[in-house]
Amino acid sequence: NGKYTVTLIPGDGIGPEISESVKTIYDAAKVPIQWEEVSVTPVLKGGKTVIPDQAIQSVRKNTVALKAVLVGKGHVSLNLTLRRTFNLFANVRPCLSIQGYKTPYDDVNTVLIRENTEGEYSGIEHEVVDGVVQSIKLITWDASERVSRYAFHYARASGRNRVTAVHKANIMKMSDGMFLSACREVAKEFPDVIYDEDLLDRVCLQITQNPKPFGDRVMVMPNLYGDILSDMCAGLIGGLGLTPSGNIGRDASIFEAVHGSAPDIAGKGLANPTALLLSSLMMLRHMNLNEHADKIEKATLGTIAEGKTITGDLGGRASTKEYTAAIVAKL
Ligand code: IPM
Ligand code: MN
Repeated sequence: NGKYTVTLIPGDGIGPEISESVKTIYDAAKVPIQWEEVSVTPVLKGGKTVIPDQAIQSVRKNTVALKAVLVGKGHVSLNLTLRRTFNLFANVRPCLSIQGYKTPYDDVNTVLIRENTEGEYSGIEHEVVDGVVQSIKLITWDASERVSRYAFHYARASGRNRVTAVHKANIMKMSDGMFLSACREVAKEFPDVIYDEDLLDRVCLQITQNPKPFGDRVMVMPNLYGDILSDMCAGLIGGLGLTPSGNIGRDASIFEAVHGSAPDIAGKGLANPTALLLSSLMMLRHMNLNEHADKIEKATLGTIAEGKTITGDLGGRASTKEYTAAIVAKL
């Protein structure tokens, strides 16, 4: 039927409501996608809790998925399990100031690419002796090279044409030092892209003072730095309700809203679907459905800029359905 099939993970809390909003907007915009909805709530299998086979097979088959919100049940995060299961090695997190939603900054346009499989997220920890715990930050050449190559390709394709590796190699001499060496090697393959390096703490200081100069580049960094810096950038534009995220792998990619499940408003029809919607637009562009993405983006940003029909978290009084309808009306 000429349609792409995409796996949809509505998840928990407000997840189903914001997923519904995306589906409504996609129908109205005639996006050639049909959704295959799956649950990733862990099931018991041979004495172990695992993600249901059906979900894994769906993502493998479709290679593209949209994920709403998953709450952290148990001690291994489901989000991390998904990243590991599909080897989603690069996490792309753009933050663009939204006209009409006022923050102290109106000129944020950052793109951050976070290594997504290792670093402090390797989950290797032990108690050495009573009162002394060791957590291993694992950095490998291969993962560093792979994410850095992705960042350079991204820079070239997006016209940003500059890659800044963000690090603390002044302290983490060996691990971050090797991350930088890998970036430098890859940089040689991209003579048309400017490459430089900056310290994480300095970058935080400078972005909060004046984010504008960071609009010319792609920042690439190890996992934990990217986790923290991406929330900081999100804060500059109004929070996680407005920021998209894409987990990219070789065999599959999962686009996601990074915010929580908002149990206090779940089921009440008040949730803001923007982060999931903008993540889905990254997904459309990943699938080369740029025209559909541009059209929906314009309608969404236009609705927010007007400020008449926006959700409570943005300072408005609209329900999820009213906000969704306002976007549909602009398509
Ligand atoms: C994120 C989240 C996750 C992370 C949590 C939920 C495990 O904060 O996607 O940034 O730390 O990576
Ligand atoms: Mn985070």
